[in-house]
Amino acid sequence: MLSEKMQDALNGQLNAELYSSYLYLSMNAYFKSVNLDGFANWMYFQAQEELTHSLKFYDFINQRGGKVKLLQVEAPPTDWDSPLAVFEATLEHEQKVTGLINELVEMALAEHDHATNIFLQWFVSEQVEEEESVTGVLEQLKLMGEAKGGLFMIDRELAKRSAPGEAGEA
Ligand code: FEO
Repeated sequence: MLSEKMQDALNGQLNAELYSSYLYLSMNAYFKSVNLDGFANWMYFQAQEELTHSLKFYDFINQRGGKVKLLQVEAPPTDWDSPLAVFEATLEHEQKVTGLINELVEMALAEHDHATNIFLQWFVSEQVEEEESVTGVLEQLKLMGEAKGGLFMIDRELAKRSAPGEAGEA
């Protein structure tokens, strides 16, 4: 059984993951609007992945006999100055999420809630991967500087990302 405090915190993270999905979908829309379809593709699958993260929290709360409470999802920004600005915002967001996951782990440890701690370990590893993949794109964008050709090269690369399990998964 989840403590009420842990239940509220997990519901908060469910909401944060939904916001992440919303944010990346908004970034997808931004990239679509500037005709960078490869970048848009990457964000589309990123948004899907965040939805699966939120469902993991949804299922876990139910599995532990808790009560899911769906909270209001904040509206994300809709415009950015450049692809570089989008990926800087993405890395900042993922670092924030990593901090939230770490806080949840600390709460689980303090409550001796081992089941929740084990559940959260998947997210601890996932955040390492998330930060790594976002940093990879960010570094490429920084290297490229103002060169337009570089932007289209990265765009072609990001177009290869597909749904988990399909060929070309990023
Ligand atoms: Fe679900 Fe990107 O953190």
